[in-house]
Amino acid sequence: MFVVHKPDSEEELEEYFDFRWLQLRKPWGYPVGSEKDEYDVVSEHRVIKDHNGDIVGCGRVHLNTPEEAQLRHIAVREDYRRKGVGQMVLNTLEIVAKDMGAERAVSSSREASISFFESAGFKIIDDAPVELGTVQRKQMCKYLCNHDALLLHSSWCDELQDTWMEQIPISGHMGIKIHKYTERTFETRASLIKNINLHGSMFAGSIYSLATLTGWGMIFLQLKQKQLDGDIVLGEASIHYNKPITAKPRAVCNIESVEAKFEYLPKLRKCPVSLHVEILDNETSVADFYGKYWVLPRSKKVAV
Ligand SMILES: CC(C)(COP(=O)(O)OP(=O)(O)OC[C@H]1O[C@@H](n2cnc3c(N)ncnc32)[C@H](O)[C@@H]1OP(=O)(O)O)[C@@H](O)C(=O)NCCC(=O)NCCS
Repeated sequence: MFVVHKPDSEEELEEYFDFRWLQLRKPWGYPVGSEKDEYDVVSEHRVIKDHNGDIVGCGRVHLNTPEEAQLRHIAVREDYRRKGVGQMVLNTLEIVAKDMGAERAVSSSREASISFFESAGFKIIDDAPVELGTVQRKQMCKYLCNHDALLLHSSWCDELQDTWMEQIPISGHMGIKIHKYTERTFETRASLIKNINLHGSMFAGSIYSLATLTGWGMIFLQLKQKQLDGDIVLGEASIHYNKPITAKPRAVCNIESVEAKFEYLPKLRKCPVSLHVEILDNETSVADFYGKYWVLPRSKKVAV
């Protein structure tokens, strides 16, 4: 049986770097230390251990840009190859990359590992610089999709995501992505890694921002649904934090919680909207946000 593990302690990290050197540097005669680089401090590292607790596979991921995750240092112990361990490393790193908010994963793959990456859906996009003197490489890429994501009216959701990116750039830095819209439920997700505090949980200010944007997004979609238009602003809000977020930040707004006077908008009156956003860590409810927004008609004269 194999288990995925995140090396955390100094001892675990030493064991992991030693494995990286043995698999990826020693065969080419490179000295101890050559297995490390400056991206290690900003990367997420994972190892696969066997039933004895020995490392049999490893890999690392870091972000090149908010959208692009770089996979590196994937290796499997020789006597464990072709048993699916490499695939397990890759799946794990792809999940971490998605949690970081990445849309695609790239790898500068050795010629000998191209079939391995291709079997997992990666495509060659270019030549990559030669490494370790003679090792030829190809730049490979895979688009990461959320299989459980469900988007009705995907063009509205794309417009909303683009609006956030253009008008509220912090949403990109927080890795906030629309996950689901069903006309009744709107769900967003954020990257934990991009919003982590020194206690290893999600920063409370980020939770508030995630909830605010989720409420804002639900109103944006309701306006689309009703073929209405207006500028959405937050009037007042309260949030109650019950538990920390340490795994997967999610925010869900259900249509049942939305109370609005949308009929005011065609009369050029500003429309009040109140709603509830539930914040979850994976499946556990951790915070409640109650927001009172206004939708301002796009006209100079606003009748109140
Ligand atoms: C590349 C590597 C990580 C693959 O690990 P692995 O555990 O053997 O891979 P998996 O068993 O998960 O293989 C999954 C699929 O990839 C493909 N694949 C893996 N190794 C392959 C090889 N040597 N030749 C052709 N296809 C291969 C196969 O389709 C395989 O499925 P199958 O066994 O059902 O046919 C491993 O060979 C390794 O550590 N190589 C040395 C280091 C290295 O090159 N790392 C990549 C750095 S860019």
